[in-house]
Amino acid sequence: MEDMTDTMRTSMSLDGDVDKLAAHYRTWADEYDADVAGHEYGLPASMVRTLVEALERLEPDAPARADGVAVLDAGCGTGLVAEALHAAGWTALDGVDLSEEMVDKAAERGIFRSLRGGVDLTVPPDDTLRHSAAIVTVGGVFTVGHVPPSALGTIAELVEPGGLLVASFRRAYIDGTDLTAEIERLEAAGTLEPLVHLADQPYTMDSLGDFHAWRVPG
Ligand SMILES: C[S@@+](CC[C@H](N)C(=O)[O-])C[C@H]1O[C@@H](n2cnc3c(N)ncnc32)[C@H](O)[C@@H]1O
Repeated sequence: MEDMTDTMRTSMSLDGDVDKLAAHYRTWADEYDADVAGHEYGLPASMVRTLVEALERLEPDAPARADGVAVLDAGCGTGLVAEALHAAGWTALDGVDLSEEMVDKAAERGIFRSLRGGVDLTVPPDDTLRHSAAIVTVGGVFTVGHVPPSALGTIAELVEPGGLLVASFRRAYIDGTDLTAEIERLEAAGTLEPLVHLADQPYTMDSLGDFHAWRVPG
């Protein structure tokens, strides 16, 4: 595997400080796709595979349905996960992110129904976002220096009752945080019902990652 770029390395050194993260992604937005998508970015395809497996698990006899089902991509960045979802048939796509500049780049793809910047996923969602999507995806956000494991609970609040949450977790993040305990806590509390866990899947050029899908009973 290739080594990561200096910009990627810096993004992982910001200790989850939302002001520093917003400032970093402000300056990275223009080059993000060239830095990330140009280098074995397996994460979007792994997200789609996890979602498809979750839908097949829920309805084994039905084809995994994409058409018409709204997907909210949380931490959408420039829209690389949404682009993979779109290619797989999901066309009702909304996106939110902390960074206004990353969202501006996402808008240029022309595949989103709506986009919103300035959304901090570490705090409970406002009423317009709470329970707003049947499927919520969050790719590349549970990574070193970004959001804490406790954000999994606040992001789950975006999902409509009975909907799905699909999330990626960088290997070093899993090993370096209390993520596993937080997942166990949320599953034991019934906040998240496990459907799919794909371990050590293609993630970035320098790392594998785990991908989970949960049903969110609400
Ligand atoms: C590595 S990028 C991933 C972007 C996109 N999902 C992708 O796969 O290319 C991480 C994204 O998380 C966003 N982010 C970081 N901290 C955040 C927070 N507290 N709330 C919302 N978004 C955040 C950043 O602005 C950035 O767009």
